[in-house]
Amino acid sequence: MSPFEWSFPTKLTYGPGRLKEVGKIAAEYGKKAMIATYEKGSPLDPVIETVSASLKAAGVEVVLFTGIEPNPRAQTIDKAIEIFNTEKCDLVIALGGGSVIDGSKYIAATAFSGGKSWDYVVLGERTPREYTGAFPIISIPTISAAGSESNAGGVIQNAETNEKSFSRSPYRLPKVAIVDPEILKSVPRRLTQDSCLDIFSHLIEHYLSSQDESDFADRMTEAMILCLIDNLDKILEDLSDLEVRMQLALCSQFGWSGLQALGRLGSIPMHSIEMPLSAHYDLPHGKGMVIVMPAYLEYMSDALPHRWAKLARRCFGVTEQDDAIAAKLLPVKVKEWFKRTGSYLTLTDVGIPNDKFEQMAEDVVRMFPIKGTETTAGARPINKEDVINMYKLMA
Ligand SMILES: [Fe+2]
Repeated sequence: MSPFEWSFPTKLTYGPGRLKEVGKIAAEYGKKAMIATYEKGSPLDPVIETVSASLKAAGVEVVLFTGIEPNPRAQTIDKAIEIFNTEKCDLVIALGGGSVIDGSKYIAATAFSGGKSWDYVVLGERTPREYTGAFPIISIPTISAAGSESNAGGVIQNAETNEKSFSRSPYRLPKVAIVDPEILKSVPRRLTQDSCLDIFSHLIEHYLSSQDESDFADRMTEAMILCLIDNLDKILEDLSDLEVRMQLALCSQFGWSGLQALGRLGSIPMHSIEMPLSAHYDLPHGKGMVIVMPAYLEYMSDALPHRWAKLARRCFGVTEQDDAIAAKLLPVKVKEWFKRTGSYLTLTDVGIPNDKFEQMAEDVVRMFPIKGTETTAGARPINKEDVINMYKLMA
């Protein structure tokens, strides 16, 4: 095991009908709140009304900022930051999926610390600017996927350069996450599938990343994967099942909470490989991850075969005892599972041609240079050629 630090300071306010408590909760953090959300005109409109009414009833003034995109643009976030500061808001209420919550984190921390949102993302060899603090954030996830509602991460996109990148900061951990399955039940079928498979991608990021042994982390991760597989099947039978929605919400929150990294540091670069797909083709993140995963698992199955084999045996019913063979069965089983849920599997399925593989691979190695040991590089260091080969497997 590697030494580690872990904390989970976000308070979860969890259960049907809890949305109405937002006013009372927000009043603890200030008198004027910016609600950051998607463009109006979606099924979320009544939810925005409920949140506004609750805030006003609690004496909290509301500044509504709509228009955060599914891949949030740094330029849009910067507009929100300007309004936040001009209006002298005290806190941000992030009402939306991972994109809105990520964007809201950049609003809260950049408005506090100064500069532009893009100054703070990881970008090649440059040293990103560091936050000096952040205004409080209350997150209200409208989909179970990113786990952003209770973690420190955040991804945004630069519309001028077609780059998408991330950063992490403990300042941006939401104070409270209000998780109300009444909101989650309206997530349509395809988006529910994509987001559940995105949760799976988070769960395996650490599991497949290093030689570190951490049986506790392994067992926690395996339990969450099995819970996810069971509940994805159930929710596809009845999209309005609140009990199942609540289980999936827990998978989302704890799937990207760091719990699965206790004693097992490092992560694999699947998200870095997906980012150019979103940046160049505006592909929603979950959709991109569904396509990236089988290719990554296949291409890298010989990197840490005993880790691949362990996951195949414990979560996907593989009985083969030879690690090298069992490792190769993992992508096969994962693909079978994806197919069973009705997912598309290739770039062609989502209308992405093969003419930018070289450029996208260049983006990956330029923006996320792999340095250091195997642990920091993931299962095995990869180069531009490897990334191109993986994109070819997705075609
Ligand atoms: Fe993700």
